[in-house]
Amino acid sequence: MNQIKDYFSNWFGSEEAEITGEIPSPQWEISGENFSLDGPIPVDASSEDKYICRCGQSKNYPYCDNSHLSYNQNNGTNIGPLKINQEKDRVVYVCRCGHSKERPFCGMNKNDHENVIDYVFVVMVFTTFAIFGAKAYETH
Ligand code: FES
Repeated sequence: MNQIKDYFSNWFGSEEAEITGEIPSPQWEISGENFSLDGPIPVDASSEDKYICRCGQSKNYPYCDNSHLSYNQNNGTNIGPLKINQEKDRVVYVCRCGHSKERPFCGMNKNDHENVIDYVFVVMVFTTFAIFGAKAYETH
């Protein structure tokens, strides 16, 4: 009976589900599919329970599409979605810039998002200069 319970617990996850293993970070990098600086994604749980991806592998982010099952199998982790219980007028805001300390929720205000945008801009400018500098150096 416990096996069945564990199977469904891994499948659906819950707010109480224990997470073991590191939550992967590459999907939050600039090249990652889920990365965006457009601000958090509102998730409306006012009419039904919602399952928010915490493994970052979902192709239907921010919703769990069960990609965590193969991720867990390949990485020895136990990461499942976070269940947002249905409640009248309940809307939660899910992070997609990857910098929130309260992931999967957005933990930032507008200024914080702008700081992230500034940071990305500086990194891109620096990278561009580094590439052109290296090319110029090669030609000497
Ligand atoms: S928790 Fe990420 S796909 Fe399920």
